Amino acid sequence: MTQPIALVTGASRGLGREVARRLVAEGYTVLAGMRNTTPLPGAEVIPLDVTDEIGILAVADAVKIRHRRLDVLVNCAGILLDQAGDACSIEASRLRQSFETNAIAPLRLVQALVPLMPRGGRIVNVSSGGGQLSTPATWAPAYCISKTALNAVTVQLAESLRPRGIAVNAVCPGWVRTDMGGPEAPRSLQQGADSILWLVLQADPGLTGGFWRDGERIPW
Ligand SMILES: NC(=O)c1ccc[n+]([C@@H]2O[C@H](COP(=O)([O-])OP(=O)(O)OC[C@H]3O[C@@H](n4cnc5c(N)ncnc54)[C@H](OP(=O)(O)O)[C@@H]3O)[C@@H](O)[C@H]2O)c1
Repeated sequence: MTQPIALVTGASRGLGREVARRLVAEGYTVLAGMRNTTPLPGAEVIPLDVTDEIGILAVADAVKIRHRRLDVLVNCAGILLDQAGDACSIEASRLRQSFETNAIAPLRLVQALVPLMPRGGRIVNVSSGGGQLSTPATWAPAYCISKTALNAVTVQLAESLRPRGIAVNAVCPGWVRTDMGGPEAPRSLQQGADSILWLVLQADPGLTGGFWRDGERIPW
């Protein structure tokens, strides 16, 4: 049996690092994508700023040359630039930056890497409850709008890749104590990572095009 190969973006800290660490422990060959590279025991560190188009193509080339395939992509890198504020006062630059990192980069990564994915491949987009249209968020509008866009990207990709047997899902880790979530968040890094890892390790491979938290479907 060859080890499954997983690329996790945003693996320098927070949830991305925990997910990468746990996948190493599960026996995956882990490619830890980071823009600020720091060693991660057992993982292959890949320099990757997810907003760098050339960098994304270079990573796809490197994965193809070194590993020939990719079984799992976890799009975890994300930014929260506007903790407060409302939609009437969003700065255009913050909105653009949020879209670039949180919605467009995951799509570009999938476009570059999906040719390396076999049937049974899994793409996990780390979204947020803040992106749910069914429960309108009144905080961080640039962030929340960009996560709604990521959810839309997820649905589109799921339909596009369904015939190829590749699952694409969005997941909310809950409110987690990381640099982004802050110290007041109720959930541990482990609980947040569990929510993400369920889609990699436990979900039926046929499940695609859904939004999940703790292994339960949540509304868009
Ligand atoms: N924490 C929560 O409560 C919570 C709730 C819902 C959803 N989420 C989502 O979970 C994901 C991880 O969040 P977190 O809480 O772990 O955040 P975090 O502690 O702030 O870490 C964010 C990670 O994203 C990376 N990143 C940001 N922009 C990048 C770029 N252009 N290229 C490459 N890496 C980039 C950061 O890298 P650097 O070290 O280089 O900055 C860092 O590794 C995000 O998508 C976030 O929206 C978090």
